[in-house]
Amino acid sequence: MDFWEWYDRNFLAAKQHDVPIYELDWLVLRLTDLDKLDLRLRSPNISQKVTLETLTTLDQLWQKRLNDRIPVQYLTGEVTWRDLELQVSPAVLIPRPETELIIDIVTDFVNKNSKDGSYTNGVWVDLGTGSGAIAIALAQHFLNIKSQAQIHAVDYSEAALEIAKINANKNHQQVYFHQGSWFEPLAKLNLQNQIAGIVSNPPYIPSIEVLNLQPEVTNHEPHLALDGGDDGLEAIRELVNTAPQYLISGGFWIVELMAGQSEIVRSLLQANGNYTNIQIHRDYAGIARFVSAQMLD
Ligand SMILES: C[S@@+](CC[C@H](N)C(=O)[O-])C[C@H]1O[C@@H](n2cnc3c(N)ncnc32)[C@H](O)[C@@H]1O
Repeated sequence: MDFWEWYDRNFLAAKQHDVPIYELDWLVLRLTDLDKLDLRLRSPNISQKVTLETLTTLDQLWQKRLNDRIPVQYLTGEVTWRDLELQVSPAVLIPRPETELIIDIVTDFVNKNSKDGSYTNGVWVDLGTGSGAIAIALAQHFLNIKSQAQIHAVDYSEAALEIAKINANKNHQQVYFHQGSWFEPLAKLNLQNQIAGIVSNPPYIPSIEVLNLQPEVTNHEPHLALDGGDDGLEAIRELVNTAPQYLISGGFWIVELMAGQSEIVRSLLQANGNYTNIQIHRDYAGIARFVSAQMLD
């Protein structure tokens, strides 16, 4: 089979199945030695670069993408997130591009407060770590600025933690991983009043909506990573209510949430009475995507 014949046929099939065309390119680039220029210029020498065996594998995976609606990242088992190469499996949520910004918000806070060693050299926690993306990116930042911060990451899912550990090793970062529900493992570590920052992308989708997302998400991503209970705010309420027992005074708190939740979360933080400097941050699409706060002194 000729590569271009296969590509053109599946380019059309992608359109018919309402699958973004760039995913076909993404899969081709991941599985072959081709580069973007080869694809754009329709390089004639391609048959030497794509063996029949590779083309057969490509075709098998792409048919799964089209017919079973399996996300391409699960098909290849990998994703690039920020500058990290991460392994993914159906045990973990595929880390999303909009979540990348949470790292910029945290590092901006740390840089602005770098004179205070309690942030740069403190204990930071990623609650609901999944693939480990946030924890690993934080560890990388603190390593780059040569600070002594210690990163802990928690997840309820043992299977997710297995993947997160592989990712930390793969990206040469030290993260302490713990299995358990939210603050439970931190209590065992006696981290009350010790934590400089809590960062989390918790499940925040209302249970009923989880069943009606795109089939790629509803049928293939772990519901434990998505389902935030009746109103989507179950995990966030736990993070608002329990974090004050663990944060140092001035400690940083940030969560990701979905469109429409930011004002409710602001009210929850205000009503709790332990927080100050409450801020809402928008993502690149203009959606209020994160809420941050600091513990009162
Ligand atoms: C939205 S995913 C975020 C994954 C990853 N941090 C990211 O940003 O891609 C939420 C994560 O929270 C974890 N989780 C759900 N309930 C939990 C609980 N009670 N305690 C700890 N982690 C939990 C899920 O297993 C999942 O990995």
